[in-house]
Amino acid sequence: LVGSLAAELRSRLPDPGARRRVLERILGGRAADLVHAGDEAAGLAEMRRELDGASATPPGIVYLVGAGPGAGDLLTLRAHRLLGEADVIVHDRLVSDAVLDMARRDAERIYVGKHRADYALPQAEINALLVRLAREGKRVVRLKSGDPLVFGRAAEEASALAQAGITFEIVPGVTAALACAAQAGIPLTHATLASNLTFVTAHLRDGVLDADFDALAAVGGTLAVYMGLATLPALTSGLIAAGMPATRPAALIERGGTDAQRVLFADLGALAERGAGWAESGPVLALIGEAIGARPRVDPAARMPA
Ligand SMILES: C[S@@+](CC[C@H](N)C(=O)[O-])C[C@H]1O[C@@H](n2cnc3c(N)ncnc32)[C@H](O)[C@@H]1O
Repeated sequence: LVGSLAAELRSRLPDPGARRRVLERILGGRAADLVHAGDEAAGLAEMRRELDGASATPPGIVYLVGAGPGAGDLLTLRAHRLLGEADVIVHDRLVSDAVLDMARRDAERIYVGKHRADYALPQAEINALLVRLAREGKRVVRLKSGDPLVFGRAAEEASALAQAGITFEIVPGVTAALACAAQAGIPLTHATLASNLTFVTAHLRDGVLDADFDALAAVGGTLAVYMGLATLPALTSGLIAAGMPATRPAALIERGGTDAQRVLFADLGALAERGAGWAESGPVLALIGEAIGARPRVDPAARMPA
């Protein structure tokens, strides 16, 4: 039955993406139910109705999707499905090939960068790009590493989309702190040692480390420090000057949640010096807190299935 409509579909909807969406609707909807129930005439009529209602440029939609820490199997099933359906993937530097490879082969991929030294598109232009693509009727997946709402600027993109009247949805992802801790066997909270977990960023604003050291030293619990490798000496000395003990356990984790993860454990007072050799070849997260000292002392290899 669909075959009998193929030529009409092609001439009415020259854009393959628009055509695929109408076909998906037809095959997954009432028309298919009618055909399965044996009423081919009603099924065909329903398919025609769907086709007549289909506009050449259907409204686009943008999904702001968390890609997780990099491993291909650490993203949600929803993210995986949306990647397979998207017409365009707009992605950052930290999104791994393992995840990008889940996109449809004919999907357009647009790299918009995001790194201190390798800055591709300013945020305002990324916002404008998402709005333009959606207005062209595209189904867009905006892929961000980890979770889009954790140091991911998804809220700015969502606001721009809302202002432009574009439908959007935010799909959560496994944020770096959770992936790093899980793979390194580090508890982020602990019954007696850590009753809170603080996500903090430690990058420079106008050349100065933008952190409230007194508050961070006072809050206790575990600190998960994003974007902190370059500023580690200023961060650790600032925390110690604000009263955090230099003996507090800490860790640096690079490429957490991937096969290439590496971990360094050190006391807070020694973390910057021990981590000085860590050139930023992959993303690095710092964890600081008493709970880190309570990790199970097991050879990581022993935790892996044979
Ligand atoms: C712009 S932030 C993005 C955070 C991301 N939205 C998330 O939820 O994980 C980039 C920082 O996240 C951290 N990061 C991201 N992925 C990581 C990974 N796989 N391992 C360690 N740190 C990671 C690093 O501190 C990096 O500098």
